[in-house]
Amino acid sequence: MITEVRLRPLRNADFDRVLELERQLFGRGAWTYGMLADELAGLGRWYIVAEPERLDRAGEQPVVGYAGLWFDGDVTQIMTIGVDPAAQRHGVGRQLMAALLERSRKVKAEAVLLEVRVDNTPAIELYRELGFEILGVRKRYYQPENVDAYTMRLDLSVAADDTADAPVGAPVDAPDDAPGDAPGDAA
Ligand SMILES: CC(C)(COP(=O)(O)OP(=O)(O)OC[C@H]1O[C@@H](n2cnc3c(N)ncnc32)[C@H](O)[C@@H]1OP(=O)(O)O)[C@@H](O)C(=O)NCCC(=O)NCCS
Repeated sequence: MITEVRLRPLRNADFDRVLELERQLFGRGAWTYGMLADELAGLGRWYIVAEPERLDRAGEQPVVGYAGLWFDGDVTQIMTIGVDPAAQRHGVGRQLMAALLERSRKVKAEAVLLEVRVDNTPAIELYRELGFEILGVRKRYYQPENVDAYTMRLDLSVAADDTADAPVGAPVDAPDDAPGDAPGDAA
C-alpha cells in the first residue's frame, strides 16, 4: 500500500522498470529500449519517476510511475505518463502531472499540449480536472492499434491561478534542466 510518493529525475538505472511499466500499460504501443533512449536524448526533455515511500521499509523502492515532457521553446508537450496498475487511483498520476505543469511554468511555456486515446477515460478525466481542453481529433494517431487521439491543451496564462492549490509532489532533487544522467521518455 502506497502511503506517499517522492518524485525524482528519471535515471538510466530506471530504464528496465519504466519499460516494464510501458509494456504493462501500453501493450503493443509500448516504447522499446531504443525509443526510450532516443527520446531521453532529445533536446528539452524533462523526465521524472515516482518512488513509493513506505514507513516499514528502508532503501529504494520500485518505481510506480513516470512522466515526461518536451519543451520546444514555446510550449511543452506531455510525452508520456504512466502509473503501475497496482498503485493507480492513489493520486500518483495527479502528482506527476502537477510536477510537469510546474516545470512548464518554470520554463515559461505558453501552454501544455498532449495527445490521448479517445477511449482513455482515466487519463482524459485527469487532464480535464487539471484544466485541459480538447482541441481536436487526430485520426488513427495510435498505431498499431489504429485508434484516434484527442489533442488537448492547457493555456498556462489562464490556468496559473486555478492550479496553484493543487497537491504538488515536487521532485525535490530535480535539476533545473533535463536530468543529467539520463536521456528523457513519452505517452
Ligand atoms: C492516467 C493515469 C496516469 C492516472 O494515474 P493515477 O495515479 O491512477 O491517477 P490519480 O489517482 O492521480 O487520479 C487523479 C484523477 O484522475 C481521474 N481518474 C484517474 N483514474 C480514473 C479512472 N479509472 N476513472 C475515472 N477517472 C479517473 C480522477 O479524476 C482522479 O481523481 P479522483 O481519484 O480524486 O477521482 C493511469 O490511469 C495510467 O497510468 N493509465 C495507463 C497509462 C496511460 O493511459 N497514460 C496516459 C497516456 S495519454
